[in-house]
Amino acid sequence: MQVTKYVFQPHGDERGQLVALEEYKEVPFKIKRVYYMYDMSPGIVRGRHAHKNLQQILICIHGSCKILLDNGNEKEVVLLEKPYEGLYVTNSMWHEMYDFSKDTVLMVLASDIYDENDYIRNYSEFLKFYGK
Ligand code: TYD
Repeated sequence: MQVTKYVFQPHGDERGQLVALEEYKEVPFKIKRVYYMYDMSPGIVRGRHAHKNLQQILICIHGSCKILLDNGNEKEVVLLEKPYEGLYVTNSMWHEMYDFSKDTVLMVLASDIYDENDYIRNYSEFLKFYGK
């Protein structure tokens, strides 16, 4: 199963670190939306869906969390724990985010605006949609 975890190059000096992300450069798509989640309740799971078209990059800019990726055939768990790491989640990937550390901020760069019709929120529909 193809899992792409980017390691972005920080611009570091004695003042600290800075990461810059540009569309079609560090990020392989046009960035049309940015959203982030924080104040996650202990033990909760977010996501639990796939998308028909959307591409996303998940960046844990503070704290850590795990992402379960599932392409319908195989599953893989990825740990995000550095603010310079980005997990590429393509459409067709069922994903679940969990094990958030306290004070985690998970930021997502997305290739399109929010559209509920692009979501597949039911796991058996996901398997049907991708013909697995
Ligand atoms: P939800 O899809 O449940 O989040 P997650 O995938 O992290 O479990 O979204 C939570 C709420 O936020 C839901 O009411 C839809 C809304 N929302 C937007 O309005 N715009 C967005 O870009 C996103 C991602 C969610």
